Amino acid sequence: MKTPRLLDLMAAMVLLVSVASSLPPLVSGDPGRRVSMTLVRGAAALGAFCLDGSLPAYHLDIGFGAGSNNWLLQFEGGGWCNDIASCVDRSKTRRGSTRFMSKTAVFTGILSNNASLNPDFYNWNKVRLRYCDGASFAGDAQFRNGTSMLYFRGQRIWKAIILDLLPKGLAKARKALLTGCSAGGLSTFLHCDNFKNYLPRTANVKCMSDAGFFLDAIDVAANRTMRSFYTKLVSLQGIQKNLDPNCTRAFYPEPSLCFFPQYALRFIRTPMFILNSAYDVFQFHHGLVPPSADLTGRWKRCKLNVTACNPHQLDALQGFRTDMLGALMNFFRNSTRGGMFINSCFDHCQSALQETWLSPTSPRIHNKTIARTVGDWYFGRRNGAKEIGCPYPCDKTCHNLIPTSTTADSLVNLDI
Ligand SMILES: *[C@@H]1O[C@H](CO)[C@@H](O)[C@H](O)[C@H]1NC(C)=O
Ligand SMILES: *[C@@H]1O[C@H](CO)[C@@H](O)[C@H](O)[C@H]1NC(C)=O
Ligand SMILES: *[C@@H]1O[C@H](CO)[C@@H](O)[C@H](O)[C@H]1NC(C)=O
Ligand SMILES: *[C@@H]1O[C@H](CO)[C@@H](O)[C@H](O)[C@H]1NC(C)=O
Ligand SMILES: *[C@@H]1O[C@H](CO)[C@@H](O)[C@H](O)[C@H]1NC(C)=O
Ligand SMILES: *[C@@H]1O[C@H](CO)[C@@H](O)[C@H](O)[C@H]1NC(C)=O
Ligand SMILES: *[C@@H]1O[C@H](CO)[C@@H](O)[C@H](O)[C@H]1NC(C)=O
Repeated sequence: MKTPRLLDLMAAMVLLVSVASSLPPLVSGDPGRRVSMTLVRGAAALGAFCLDGSLPAYHLDIGFGAGSNNWLLQFEGGGWCNDIASCVDRSKTRRGSTRFMSKTAVFTGILSNNASLNPDFYNWNKVRLRYCDGASFAGDAQFRNGTSMLYFRGQRIWKAIILDLLPKGLAKARKALLTGCSAGGLSTFLHCDNFKNYLPRTANVKCMSDAGFFLDAIDVAANRTMRSFYTKLVSLQGIQKNLDPNCTRAFYPEPSLCFFPQYALRFIRTPMFILNSAYDVFQFHHGLVPPSADLTGRWKRCKLNVTACNPHQLDALQGFRTDMLGALMNFFRNSTRGGMFINSCFDHCQSALQETWLSPTSPRIHNKTIARTVGDWYFGRRNGAKEIGCPYPCDKTCHNLIPTSTTADSLVNLDI
């Protein structure tokens, strides 16, 4: 019962990334720059390894001109593994080992170095942190049984990468933005304050999570599927000691709840921007309607195309949006330095794709693109950097990036 769900969570991540990147580009010209991988040699001394024991890595595109002293770090995403079997599987793929990763990364969207595609950050130093620990860069444990060994060392990987980057110029950063999508968007919440602590006091440091606001949702079978999943993850990978102590104290005796952004948020002191779709397809397919909650397949067509949803299913989707906005209400009303862009599209991750970050047809709220809203917030160009879109079906600017079932099946076999 459990393992299929895990595989499914991971497969879906692989799938969404692939579906998104295979879309025809809507912006002509710049196809995205390929940036090569740097292995972190110093990581071994810190015991910072990928699941399989390989060295962690990042891709660095050096900044230029007025951006030379500014740094943008982006956590790669890609689901989680929360039991030995799924982590063993993962350690044999690009999600758990740098040995299996492509050695170049395409930098587009918020990582683009083209001023017309990424006006506010194009000339910054930009780093993509490769994800190979399976716990949003937050675990610290290991598994050993005589024949197998797994490293759960996400927190040390995070530290090893930062220590490697500091002498390369990060130590002198004037402006910095920590970001990431999906599991990497969750990492952004978890490491935001810690990131600020490594940088000069005078630096302007902010964090922007993309599709990382995973809700403590109740699924359509009335179970807290995400909560059970994360509780197992926190326990397996030794995450609890790396969660914000003020939060874990407040949530005793359920400290693992602090892995959920909605509970950790009020303890984060560094300015945060929350970018998320209110119908994020990953959360729709795995938090609201996980396969375990739809054994009869009544949701199958609706999951693939919202126009096939019946009124009862649409109610559930609107309820999910209402819950997300409810979880964000305190932040919306009370955070003076925060920003948000909560639109109503069926997609997942909008800052790393050029089509959704900034293009003639990219998603908008009040006619503002994501790139513009994030830039205005970062640079304080205008007040009220918090945008909430109207509920489905009113947003006509969406790119609905929903996987189809046939590609899903083949990708499961391909990647897991
Ligand atoms: C930057 O992007 C624009 C718009 O797509 C394109 O016309 C231009 O050629 C690109 N510039 C470079 C240097 O790639
Ligand atoms: C160690 O764990 C792996 C993965 O679960 C398993 O395949 C193997 O049989 C285990 N070995 C022993 C000695 O228990
Ligand atoms: C989900 O909830 C139903 C009843 O609400 C229960 O019978 C079932 O065991 C639960 N499934 C899981 C996987 O927790
Ligand atoms: C915990 O909260 C106290 C009081 O608000 C604050 O001074 C301290 O820095 C916080 N600690 C951490 C680790 O966030
Ligand atoms: C969803 O279904 C509608 C109506 O059948 C169709 O027009 C639309 O293209 C479909 N969307 C996708 C993403 O398949
Ligand atoms: C905003 O903060 C005030 C004071 O701390 C609190 O009373 C109020 O409930 C908060 N608003 C929301 C919407 O949570
Ligand atoms: C929306 O913004 C574009 C520029 O980004 C502008 O050309 C257009 O007139 C605006 N539309 C409305 C309805 O304000």
